Amino acid sequence: MNILITGAAGYIGSHSTVELIQAGHHIVMLDNLINSHKVSVNCIEKITGKNVPFIECDLRNTVLVESVLRDYMIDAVIHFAGLKSVSESIKYPIEYTANNIQSTISLLIAMKNSNIKTLVFSSSATVYGEPKYLPLDELHPVSAVNPYGRNKLHIEEMLIDLVASDPLWKIISLRYFNPVGAHESGLIGENPIGIPNNLFPFISKVAAGELPYLKVYGGDYPTYDGTGIRDYIHVMDLAEGHLAALRYINKSAGYLTVNLGAGFGVSVLEVIKMYELVSHKKINYEVVERRPGDVAMCYANVDKAKLFLNWTPKRNLNAMCASAWYFQNKL
Ligand code: NAD
Ligand code: UD1
Repeated sequence: MNILITGAAGYIGSHSTVELIQAGHHIVMLDNLINSHKVSVNCIEKITGKNVPFIECDLRNTVLVESVLRDYMIDAVIHFAGLKSVSESIKYPIEYTANNIQSTISLLIAMKNSNIKTLVFSSSATVYGEPKYLPLDELHPVSAVNPYGRNKLHIEEMLIDLVASDPLWKIISLRYFNPVGAHESGLIGENPIGIPNNLFPFISKVAAGELPYLKVYGGDYPTYDGTGIRDYIHVMDLAEGHLAALRYINKSAGYLTVNLGAGFGVSVLEVIKMYELVSHKKINYEVVERRPGDVAMCYANVDKAKLFLNWTPKRNLNAMCASAWYFQNKL
């Protein structure tokens, strides 16, 4: 298939682009590089041995997006592009909405005008808000607890309306849990600009000696060791999930929401221990106050992904930490 990948230079987009190219798809990468670097395009070409068209463009440029869809005879779109920091979204709610919602509307209009009606959308476990029960399945009630989450929910609702208006649309919203790790080549991975907010990139920098110590946010959660529990999923398992979603969507119609996670929770202290094991480095840390907005536990029920997409995650916590460390050493 000819597939347009929006946000393709970013963390998850770049790994998924590699996976899809290796599965034989023809990919067109689109990104405005607001949170990524063009070098990831070269890395993808190096890994896959293929030339990959890259369009540097803001998704809100509907006319240009429409011409890309037509010129490359695109069959389906995977929509990763967006701003993704919860804390930033609280500080800049209008900018987040202007980017995340307007770019999605622009893409959908361009797709509609070009008669392309197959879409995979990057949603997030954040749409579940404070968990009422665990593990979280797709029937768990949704609620927005921050502007970023509100953007994701709003987009999911738009997509439901779209499918209801025209049954020829085929759309899957994938709700990711905590994607971590890197491609085995060590050429692409997660390398946020500035000091990382998220656990894995922060630990990598501590292990590398670039940051002095990790602040463990909260040691008094009602969990087995007092620290927060999350569902970390290897980014390559996530990439394979997109391939599975595309296969499914080709044989079906309508709208589907699917969780992509490992299906089990791991504590912050367990991540630290595993990272120390694979890196042979001491991870200095200090337990501090809880981070506002954090929940004690969040992990997925991934039965629906198995049932509908025939997808199950394969890589364990050791592989997640080892690949993150390998990537860190290649930076
Ligand atoms: P990322 O920031 O690495 O990648 C997103 C890409 O989108 C960036 O390269 C950025 O430059 C591009 N972009 C942003 N706005 C754009 C616009 N208007 N036009 C064109 N390009 C634009 O983030 P990621 O971690 O790869 O996340 C990809 C998607 O998955 C996002 O939608 C994010 O909300 C969602 N998601 C991520 C996580 C996570 O933990 N990483 C979890 C759940 C959901
Ligand atoms: C956060 C976002 C989520 C988003 C995801 C990826 C919030 C509330 N949630 O998830 O919506 O999809 O990032 O961008 O912001 N931790 C530490 N020290 C650190 C960093 C993290 O102890 O320096 C702990 C956290 O308290 C948490 C766990 O590590 O228990 C994972 O944190 P993080 O990687 O930031 O992801 P989430 O908060 O789960």
